[in-house]
Amino acid sequence: PQDADVAGRLLAWYDAHHRDLPWRVPPHELARGMRPDPYRVWLSEVMLQQTTVEAVKSYFRSFVRKWPTVTALASASSDDIMKAWAGLGYYSRARNLKACADQVAVKGGTFPDTEESLRALPGIGAYTAAAIAAIAFDRPAAVVDGNVERVVTRLFSIATPLPQAKMEVRAIVEGLVPDKRPGDFAQATMDLGATICTPRRPRCMLCPLRENCSAQANGDPEFYPVRLAK
Ligand code: ADE
Repeated sequence: PQDADVAGRLLAWYDAHHRDLPWRVPPHELARGMRPDPYRVWLSEVMLQQTTVEAVKSYFRSFVRKWPTVTALASASSDDIMKAWAGLGYYSRARNLKACADQVAVKGGTFPDTEESLRALPGIGAYTAAAIAAIAFDRPAAVVDGNVERVVTRLFSIATPLPQAKMEVRAIVEGLVPDKRPGDFAQATMDLGATICTPRRPRCMLCPLRENCSAQANGDPEFYPVRLAK
């Protein structure tokens, strides 16, 4: 029963319980044909790589107010971008942000729309390429971050320690991603990990995947994911 309609259950839960975040286009607007702006998706995902959702919100708003398009960002000086980034940390991200904006601007200001071509851009690794492909371009990419690893290792009681389990988790996510709404599926999995399937004291009573979850059935979801002792 573990994989019985996982995507359908997650999407229905997301429709009702998604977080309203400044870079998101909510499900009801997507259903009416609204498309996310790849620039905003890219900017938010780079900011979220090593920074929490709460901390990113105000920086994201201030960046898009100052620089509403990737071309506008490319026209900014590195100095102004570094100043606006101050406080977010991991400053190589800000340098790559500028380098990536320059490359996209030179190509006419349009982001590429496949994982492979996105990965060729500065600062865009496997995770970020998959997230942009799914959220901005509706591609069934497997988006795997720490939240998703926790959800999936619990769902399937994967006792292989991380990081060794990454390949296994990725293969499972590839099998779960729906053809329709892959971007919402990715964000639903992240929201579930952030609000329900939390590292400590997960709120299994509220989980849409309760009936699917092997760890929950065995009574010890907190055991997963297993990590290699340092
Ligand atoms: N963490 C990284 N990307 C995210 C997104 N799009 N929504 C919620 N959490 C995230």
